[in-house]
Amino acid sequence: MAVKEIIKIPDPVLREMCGEIADVTPELNVLMDDMLETMYDAPGIGLAAPQINIPIRLIVMDAAKREEEEKPNPIIMVNPVIISASDERSLYEEGCLSIPDYYAEVERPAAVNVAYIDRHGKMQEMVCEDLLATVVQHEIDHLNGKLFIDYLSKLRRDRVIKKFAKAKKTDAL
Ligand code: NI
Repeated sequence: MAVKEIIKIPDPVLREMCGEIADVTPELNVLMDDMLETMYDAPGIGLAAPQINIPIRLIVMDAAKREEEEKPNPIIMVNPVIISASDERSLYEEGCLSIPDYYAEVERPAAVNVAYIDRHGKMQEMVCEDLLATVVQHEIDHLNGKLFIDYLSKLRRDRVIKKFAKAKKTDAL
């Protein structure tokens, strides 16, 4: 297993439409483990493959409540698709490993039913609620080149993008 480098905005890979995965191969299983290790190391509760510069439809998550000493609950989804969403909505403060140290409240459906392929190549369905509902929607957005800051007002979004563009320029010096 290996911790991969997480790319940050304004990297254009974060805006790509990611490709479907044709097969769950042993190489893909290694990538899944690397992504989980990278996510736990960050630390984060979700990571999408484009965030480690690989634009394919693969996400990993763990929304277990550490502060309540819940056991780790790693979830891996290949080609995830939201097949239904609740009318009820919930508000969570979101962050993103590709937009460090920035947080904002985003409103999303409170529960979603997701179809996906698991690490053994089997079709599965999962009802995601509470924090996991927000995490899975945030990660699936990544696969479509969408970021949580896209839900904010243009003014707030532009301010964040500008800040990171400036930071990148400074790094290059
Ligand atoms: Ni993110």
